[in-house]
Amino acid sequence: MQICNNIGTNEKGNLTFAGFDTVELAKKYGTPLYLMDENKIREKMRTYKKAMKKHFGDGAMPIYASKAASFKRMYRIAKEEDIGIDVVSIGEIYTALSAEYDISRAFFHGNNKTPDEISFAIENNIGYFVADSLTELESINAEAARQGKRQKVLLRITPGIDTHTNKKIATGNVDSKFGVAIATGQAYEFVGAALGFKNIDLYGYHCHVGSQVFDAETFIDAVDIMMDFSAEVKRRYGYEGEILNLGGGFGVRYVASQPDLDIENSIREVGEVLTQKCTDLNMKKPKILMEPGRSIVADAGMTLYTVGTVKQITNFKNYVAIDGGMADNPRFALYDAEYTVVTANKATLPKHYRCTLVGKCCESGDIIQEDIHIAKPEKGDTVAVLTTGAYNYSMASNYNRLAKPPVVMLADGKDYVAVKRETLEDIIRNDV
Ligand code: LLP
Repeated sequence: MQICNNIGTNEKGNLTFAGFDTVELAKKYGTPLYLMDENKIREKMRTYKKAMKKHFGDGAMPIYASKAASFKRMYRIAKEEDIGIDVVSIGEIYTALSAEYDISRAFFHGNNKTPDEISFAIENNIGYFVADSLTELESINAEAARQGKRQKVLLRITPGIDTHTNKKIATGNVDSKFGVAIATGQAYEFVGAALGFKNIDLYGYHCHVGSQVFDAETFIDAVDIMMDFSAEVKRRYGYEGEILNLGGGFGVRYVASQPDLDIENSIREVGEVLTQKCTDLNMKKPKILMEPGRSIVADAGMTLYTVGTVKQITNFKNYVAIDGGMADNPRFALYDAEYTVVTANKATLPKHYRCTLVGKCCESGDIIQEDIHIAKPEKGDTVAVLTTGAYNYSMASNYNRLAKPPVVMLADGKDYVAVKRETLEDIIRNDV
């Protein structure tokens, strides 16, 4: 089954990804193995950039939410594609800096930035802070003053939108650890305070309603609410925000039953509403930013594993165990995330074998996917889990002291290592 156009099969009956034979790649690099299709990443970044400029205006820009996949090569690609980045920790900032990404184009997120992070970011001339609370705004102002600087800031506003996505990745409703709510009136006080700080330059607002969202309607609601908010701020304080950052969240097709979201068309729909709304409110059209993470990298990724034990529990269930698991992909354990699984060296054979794909970690919840149908795997076969480019490598852990797999990039017929496989020495590096 074809869920993305970078996936196919070859004459050997093997699964191909970005034109490469996945079984050959598994042999060459070993498993578990993360693969990334560089051209797909670039294509997505360009799609966002082009569509946003066309439908929101020239000042519009995608900001890659690097939490989805954060390693040096990703920041270099963002730099080459001339787009912004969203960073959420000193670690992401440091990685971007090491990749020579110009962080004056970065947006620093997070609901609880530490004093060290605030000071490091200002020292390195980060572009914008997205301030999450009044307490944080005070700290940013104080640190900017200490360093004799002025800091550009957006305010994270909670628009009060309930997305139909997993509760753990929804962020737009009033009851959220992120941002300051319009509904309680506190968002207006937040703006008032920001305007009063001497070392803060307020540039506008940010909202992010959730992740894995398929309907443009959610973003249209965000535009509607945020522009009303901006107009009310203008009425109260005479201040008009220059930037409106709509956050990330566009959904990705992990399994055939999910829609294949048309990014350009969704942006067009949002753009039309924005133009109309600004006319109705007699407001200038703000510079629109969007922060896609998942929709840039998810289907540019795939994970390969080797099958070990195939356990058939008589009259009950079949378990297929692979050489990775929740340590390299915790998303089923966390969110019941869905994935498409293929026996890569039997990709053209009928998918009649019903099983649950499990990892090698020492707990029952270590499941990659439950109750799937794949070509019957045997020990030594290669299994591919598709669409793992987002929030897999970036959420990987060393649970059970498993070494993190490498990330191998595929581009124009060339394969290269972007992140090396961890070694046993890496595992004990910080132990004293
Ligand atoms: N902007 C902000 C402020 C965010 O918090 C996020 C994601 C994004 C942008 C990017 O959202 P995206 O386009 O990737 O949906 N670990 C979860 C997802 C958590 C998302 C956190 N914030 C998962 O594996 O599904």
